[in-house]
Amino acid sequence: AQNVERADDGVLHIGGISVEALAAEFGTPAYVFDEDDFRARCRAWIEAFEGADVFYASKAFCSKAVLRAAAEEGLFVDVCTAGELAVALAAGLAPARLGLHGNNKSFAELRQAVEIGVGRIVADSFTEIERIEAIAAELGKRPNVMIRVNVGVEAHTHEFIATAHEDQKFGFSLAGGAAYDAARRVIQAEHLELLGLHSHIGSQIFDTAAFEISAARVARLHAKLQTDFSVQIPEMDLGGGFGMAYTSQDDPQPPADIAASLRKIVDEECTAAGIDVPRLSIEPGRSLIGPTMFTLYQVGTVKPVTLAGSAARLYVSVDGGISDNIRTALYDATYSATLASRSSDATPALARVVGKHCEAGDIVVKDEFLPADVAPGDLIAVPGTGAYCRSMGSNYNHVPRPPVVAVRNGEARVILARETVDDLLRLDVG
Ligand code: LLP
Repeated sequence: AQNVERADDGVLHIGGISVEALAAEFGTPAYVFDEDDFRARCRAWIEAFEGADVFYASKAFCSKAVLRAAAEEGLFVDVCTAGELAVALAAGLAPARLGLHGNNKSFAELRQAVEIGVGRIVADSFTEIERIEAIAAELGKRPNVMIRVNVGVEAHTHEFIATAHEDQKFGFSLAGGAAYDAARRVIQAEHLELLGLHSHIGSQIFDTAAFEISAARVARLHAKLQTDFSVQIPEMDLGGGFGMAYTSQDDPQPPADIAASLRKIVDEECTAAGIDVPRLSIEPGRSLIGPTMFTLYQVGTVKPVTLAGSAARLYVSVDGGISDNIRTALYDATYSATLASRSSDATPALARVVGKHCEAGDIVVKDEFLPADVAPGDLIAVPGTGAYCRSMGSNYNHVPRPPVVAVRNGEARVILARETVDDLLRLDVG
């Protein structure tokens, strides 16, 4: 996060507050949220994509305070379940500024979206188009529908496949013609408005070429539909997936560069087809929220383990683990860790930060050098945990999920409370 620095005494501070003070007041583990950093990132994406709509993908992290902050900075919000929708409404967001995603939205979710006037519903199957239309007819509404296009580009960090990656659950196939047919179905529907085409090719992507190929394919379909059916399709959503830096090895492109390259592609395709350039929208999640939080843990035990030869590794056990960050175990994601509560002159030792769960795969940071004198009671900070950590958290081993503490203007406040064992027992009605 932006406002994190090590003070003269060696203790990590965020917005002028020491991690010692945070741990004393709020306990550990805790996610610490740099709200100004988040707001600055919101503004940066809005400025870079000026004239386009920026939707915050709330799946990355969803709470009232964060959605409200995003809305205050001018963002729209993407939700993909009734749960995320409920948070957005509880935060006071106008339904018109929301988008609803999902490959298997329930009938109740669709009905609620149509009824309250969610700004766009991104349709993911023919079954769903039929359902939305039936609901719209019944309620006398005309919802904005987007068609999720499977562009055949699948991208991951540092690599992408630009042909025929169709074997996945999302969207209507572009190559197979289903996307065209789905769009036609919506254009011809009495009770639906085709707002535009939508694509999303993956997450934590650094390779702009993947976005460019996808945008070009969507733009060509957009142009073909406009020409074939003599309609104006107002918008085109290019999705999210922009990579963030987890470690110093990662080097994400500035939003302005991404915006420029995507605009160029869309402009070129539209000019070639002789049509007006549609309004663009994007849906970043991780790049907005990911870098704005770190997880603060307390060390419980330190155990040296001898590796092959004479090497050794320190297993540093902290008071959380895969219940608050499953990404290392699930995706082999790379995080870093730092001793946060003091400085140390001890030599760096190869360490692994592990959790308290009953599972050998319960690893938070796989390889890190920590001072060899790291000891029980020390605080460890793991940066970059704003996206898909709290939102993918679990109660494995009946470990309650940590709170989120927002720091802003030198003040800390809880925006998501710490779960308690009583919260879990309340559901145990047997
Ligand atoms: N739009 C759609 C339709 C999406 O499915 C997603 C993410 C986004 C936008 C936001 O993507 P972002 O900008 O955050 O990359 N759990 C995984 C990531 C799953 C992403 C799912 N969809 C992880 O922890 O890496």
